Amino acid sequence: LDNFSVKNEPVLGYLKGSKERYELEEALKQISSSCEDVPIIVGDEEIRTKLVQHQVMPHNHSQKIAQYYHATPEVIKKAIKVAVAAQKTWENVPFQERFNIWQRAANLMATKYRMQLNAATMLGQSKNALQAEIDSAAELIDFFRFNAYNAKELLSYRPVSENPKVTLNSMRYRGMEGFVAAVSPFNFTAIGGNLAYTPALMGNSVLWKPSDTALLSNYIIFKIMKEAGLPSGIVNFVPADGPVFGDNTTSSKDLACINFTGSVVTFNHLWRQVGNNIDLYKSYPRLIGECGGKNYHFVHPSADVLNVVVNTIRSAFEYCGQKCSACSRMYVPESLWPKIKDGLLAIRNDLKVGDPTEYDTFMGAVIDAKAFQRLSGAIDRAGKTSGLKVVGGGTYDCSKGYFIQPTIVESKNPKDDIMVNELFGPVLAVYVYKDKDVNSTLELVGNSTPYALTGAIFGNDEEFLKKATVELKQTAGNFYINDKSTGSVVGQQPFGGARKSGTNDKAGGPHYVLRYASPISVKETF
Ligand code: SER
Repeated sequence: LDNFSVKNEPVLGYLKGSKERYELEEALKQISSSCEDVPIIVGDEEIRTKLVQHQVMPHNHSQKIAQYYHATPEVIKKAIKVAVAAQKTWENVPFQERFNIWQRAANLMATKYRMQLNAATMLGQSKNALQAEIDSAAELIDFFRFNAYNAKELLSYRPVSENPKVTLNSMRYRGMEGFVAAVSPFNFTAIGGNLAYTPALMGNSVLWKPSDTALLSNYIIFKIMKEAGLPSGIVNFVPADGPVFGDNTTSSKDLACINFTGSVVTFNHLWRQVGNNIDLYKSYPRLIGECGGKNYHFVHPSADVLNVVVNTIRSAFEYCGQKCSACSRMYVPESLWPKIKDGLLAIRNDLKVGDPTEYDTFMGAVIDAKAFQRLSGAIDRAGKTSGLKVVGGGTYDCSKGYFIQPTIVESKNPKDDIMVNELFGPVLAVYVYKDKDVNSTLELVGNSTPYALTGAIFGNDEEFLKKATVELKQTAGNFYINDKSTGSVVGQQPFGGARKSGTNDKAGGPHYVLRYASPISVKETF
């Protein structure tokens, strides 16, 4: 491993006439013309239950891209047995061997399977080519390379040994005894790969429940890891109904860790279940979670209008506002609002919402019928509530796909639902404050929601930037100055939120791998 260094995977542009565009087109054709059969995989065994499900294209919901199966309680119990047994041998596999598997996998993702991963993410999760490329190619590959690199750094730590010929101290890293329950979301293919496989890198075994709406892209990752040489039983692919998976994993004495990204409600429920079952477990399960957010852009009167407008459009509407980091509330001074509003509306009116496989599409569809109902309901409410005004967008249509137009709502009440509750979609709420109230408005940022995921401040007044950076310290795990609240890059801006946004373990950061390690301190006396 000497001289090994790590770099971010370059993002491809998919320009007209490029080789990558041709290859992507071929992969899109292949996936859209078939409905892949995706089994549950436990150890070596492919399992198909009677609980048959389908993944559809959100932008064309009559078209299926995968048939899959939900696990029954018996299948989950079987997977736990297989995982617990596999963990015992896996943790003894020399790290160099595990490291090599991760490097091979990253290289397969970067080459042979790049277009398949992107095509499955575009069709299944409704990302356009660029949004897919930065997720299921760049970020996914980065997670595999950086985590392997960071694990290597961790393992190279040597404790002090005053006289190593007499007493040698060392730190060794086991896996956690038992199994890890990994529950991943639809919105980033890369998060699925990270949640399921980083624990495995560190010597653990895993039951992976991918999101139903990211099934195909996640299954491709599973197959890549197999091809890269990961022995069977280490990561078991177990799509399941959420509560069935939760109940059957949290009631196992062997639960070592829950590795979760999803809603606050579900994460809270899992904590409670673990609390109720605490006497049952062999170890104290680690609970690692990324949950919701109500991410903000706070604009100071000294801000550059164009910079605010462009970054807010990108943060609030790229990938339909379904990044956990997306800006969904904004605080704007009265003196700048007319210009900012004009700018937001001018760009908004030009954004194409539609088929994500067309290269000029900015936004595809939202992920499913449930999201569509939640968002269209919120837009309807905004249209009827006094104090709220829909100033742009506000229309939707689900006849073919789950389309919501990028919507901007002005709110007179900074504590209104739309300013404080997560909606997870392309709806931006804006509170216009009086310039003289800049300080009291800044206080609202941290006081009005339970979250602390991402946030951004915009301004050119050095004093304000300094003060706001200190005052908003507890309001975001990822904080941006004169930049959008989205777009963290592995190894550059380690990602994670505090408060009710999660346990702030910073995916893509140097300490992330430690969360999945169980160190043993060894003193050897000669
Ligand atoms: N890492 C993504 C971003 O920062 C969110 O998961 O936008």
